[in-house]
Amino acid sequence: MLRLFFALWPGDDTRDALADWSEAMHRACGGRRITADKVHATLAFLGERPADELAALAATAGLVNAPPFELVLDQARYWKQQRIAWAGASTVPAALGTLSESLRALLSERGFTFDSKPFVPHITLVRDASRPKELPSLAPIRWPVESFCLVQSSGGTYAVLSSWPLLGRDP
Ligand code: 2AM
Repeated sequence: MLRLFFALWPGDDTRDALADWSEAMHRACGGRRITADKVHATLAFLGERPADELAALAATAGLVNAPPFELVLDQARYWKQQRIAWAGASTVPAALGTLSESLRALLSERGFTFDSKPFVPHITLVRDASRPKELPSLAPIRWPVESFCLVQSSGGTYAVLSSWPLLGRDP
């Protein structure tokens, strides 16, 4: 079995900028920082899946049709139930909605189950975070999103197994 999820995976510049955010949020909330190499935005969390489903999952992901977009991260947020501090976007680009809806619909059609909480784009930066008096106000990060990927979580590390470019083909 493999623990799997689909995600957006930041490039180096976005990752560096998010590391600065994470440091500032950690100062405000304490807790455990997510290391820079693991920072991502989950699109669909699949959980434990048999390894022989990988080919079908990849074929499904290959059918997703969404254009590339820029995600502007401009909000430091805190969820008290999950005790996480995270980076979010005040404006969710239409293409990100298209991407997550298309991926989730294709997975459901093909019988793949995933965590069905409504999709809220978020990048967890600190876990076990205490409620901050005030969240820092941080310089917005412009993240050019050109692909999405399938990630395996194993023994505390994440490995990108495959990725698919966002092309926005004509239907
Ligand atoms: P989180 O950052 O909000 O905790 C890998 O665990 C990724 O999948 C994390 O980004 C996590 O979101 C997300 N995820 C979504 N649903 C999950 C679930 N039911 N269990 C574990 N992780 C989940």
